[in-house]
Amino acid sequence: MTTAVPVITLNDGNTIPQLGYGVFQIEPKDTVAAVSKALEVGYRHIDTAEMYDNEKEVGEAVRSSGLDRGDVFITSKLNNGFHRPDDARKAFDATLSALGVDYIDLFLIHWPLPTLYDGDFVSTWRTLEEFQREGRARSIGVSNFQVSHLQRLATGAKVVPAVNQVEAHPYFGNEEVRRYGREHGIATEAWAPIAKGRVLTDPVVTEIAERIGRTPAQVVLRWHVQRGDIVFPKSTTPKRVEENFQIFDFELDSADMDRVCALDKGEAGRNGPHPDRFAHVPN
Ligand SMILES: NC(=O)c1ccc[n+]([C@@H]2O[C@H](COP(=O)([O-])OP(=O)(O)OC[C@H]3O[C@@H](n4cnc5c(N)ncnc54)[C@H](OP(=O)(O)O)[C@@H]3O)[C@@H](O)[C@H]2O)c1
Repeated sequence: MTTAVPVITLNDGNTIPQLGYGVFQIEPKDTVAAVSKALEVGYRHIDTAEMYDNEKEVGEAVRSSGLDRGDVFITSKLNNGFHRPDDARKAFDATLSALGVDYIDLFLIHWPLPTLYDGDFVSTWRTLEEFQREGRARSIGVSNFQVSHLQRLATGAKVVPAVNQVEAHPYFGNEEVRRYGREHGIATEAWAPIAKGRVLTDPVVTEIAERIGRTPAQVVLRWHVQRGDIVFPKSTTPKRVEENFQIFDFELDSADMDRVCALDKGEAGRNGPHPDRFAHVPN
C-alpha cells in the first residue's frame, strides 16, 4: 500500500493534497517552527486564515523550507469584517502580501454571516470569482456554508465553490452538507477532524486503535480520508505532527468505518458555532 498523501481533483481541475496541516490557534511566535516541522515531516498543504493572525509566519516558514512555492498548497480565508466587495479586495491583497506570495492556491469565505451584510454573501462570492479570473486565487471556495447558503449562492454565482470547509468529525458527521457537496461537485474539507481531541478517548475509537495497532488520532483521520474528505489536523506537538501524517499505510475495514460513523450525534455533536447564527466580527 502506498504511503504517499493522495490528491483530490477539485471541480476546477486543480488538485489538493487530502491531508494538510491546520494552524488555527497557533500563536504567531510559534508558527514558523510549527509549520517548518510540518513541512519537514512531509505535509504540503497548510490551512490558515486572516483571522488566525499567522499568515505572515506561514509564508516565512514556506520560504525558509527551500521548497518551491508550487510544491506547497496554501489556503487562507476572508475574515468576517471584509464581506463588502471593496473590503474583500483590500483584504485579499493584504493576505497575499502577508503570505509573501503572488497567488494563493485556495481562498475561502470564512463564514457565511447570513445575519450580517443583509445576508448578501453572493456579492462577496462574485469578488472571489474576480480573484480567480485574475489568476491570483487558483481555486475559490466557502467555509461553514449550510445547504441553504449553498443554494442561495448558486442563484447568483458563476463559479461553483471548489470546496466547503465545515466542522466534521465522528461526533458530528455533517451528512446533509457533505451530501449536497457530493451531488454538486463541491469537495468537503473537515475542520476540527479529531473534535479538538474529544473523540480520541471514545471507547469505540480506542478499541479499534488497540486492535489494529494504531493511535486513536490515526484511526479518526483515516476514517475521514476513507470518507473522501480533506483534513488538516492541528498540533504543535512534534510527535503528534508525525503521528497524524502516518495514515496512508493501513485501512479501516467497512465494519470499523460503520462503527465510527455510528458515533454521529447530529447537531448535539457540533462543537463550534452554528453557521446560521454566527455573527462575530473581530475588531
Ligand atoms: N473554517 C473554520 O471555521 C475552521 C474552524 C476551526 C478549525 N479550522 C481549521 O481546521 C484545523 C483543525 O481544526 P482544530 O485545530 O480546530 O482541531 P483539531 O485538529 O480537531 O484538534 C486540535 C487539537 O487536538 C490535539 N491533537 C492533535 N493531534 C493529536 C494527536 N495525534 N493526539 C492527541 N491530540 C492531538 C492538538 O493538541 P496539540 O496542539 O497540543 O498537540 C489540539 O489541541 C484548524 O487548525 C484550522 O486550520 C477551520
